[in-house]
Amino acid sequence: MSLNEYIFKSLDSNIPKHVALIMDGNGRWATLRGLDRSKGHQEGVKRISDVVRTADKIGVKAITIFAFSTENWSRPQKEIDEIFALVRKYLKEERFNEDNVKITFMGDHSILDEDTRKTIQEVREKTSGNTGTILNIALNYGSKEETLNAIKTISKDYKNGKIDIEELDYNRVENHLMSKGLPDIDLMVRTGGEKRLSNFLLWQLAYSELHFTPVYWPDYNELEFINSIKEYQKRERRFGGLKL
Ligand code: IPE
Ligand code: IPE
Ligand code: MG
Repeated sequence: MSLNEYIFKSLDSNIPKHVALIMDGNGRWATLRGLDRSKGHQEGVKRISDVVRTADKIGVKAITIFAFSTENWSRPQKEIDEIFALVRKYLKEERFNEDNVKITFMGDHSILDEDTRKTIQEVREKTSGNTGTILNIALNYGSKEETLNAIKTISKDYKNGKIDIEELDYNRVENHLMSKGLPDIDLMVRTGGEKRLSNFLLWQLAYSELHFTPVYWPDYNELEFINSIKEYQKRERRFGGLKL
């Protein structure tokens, strides 16, 4: 059976609209092979397009990937520089338009270097008209920072008489989050074996299905992604209600 046949035969029609991924385990993948951690990041970045293409094939509308957290600044400068160099290379070289992929971002980019900020701006503009899968990249993203900024903006609006406390609802809060406009996250996958959220999308993951896999991110290929979707299809979502 070809990979395509396998993919389509093994899934039912319940495809998640939005999948979020914590791409973890690059360092351990490399260390296990006696390689430098940077080799793990190099190999890991290649998996992103595999996942995005598979997502497109099966009808996933949006993928959010955790590329760099607000806490990752505590790593050695050399590793940080290597990660950002890889991010820039990926954004500059990947042919998103050929796959009709639209790139969006989350995170505070104001403290990033000029080249990275320019690269982000260019890829955003270049792909803004694409209508295929959305690849949303969380770069210098932290959910607590995002929440804090939302609280600050809402407080200012209140102070300036723009909103009443009584008017504040979930929708208004969500309008101040960086995920604004994206579908709800149906499935969150974390590779690398850790079972934690690490400050990723704390509001947005309410009622998402969570899949934790021991596979290190550089080994997370098309079939692993399909396996995560299959795992999702086994779940029964109740949203606080009763079994349908
Ligand atoms: C995830 O892999 C990539 C980033 C955080 C940028 P890690 O670098 O965290 O890999 P491990 O968890 O140390 O194996
Ligand atoms: C989460 O991985 C962040 C990214 C994948 C970008 P970490 O490796 O930074 O998370 P912790 O420190 O193990 O929780
Ligand atoms: Mg890690």
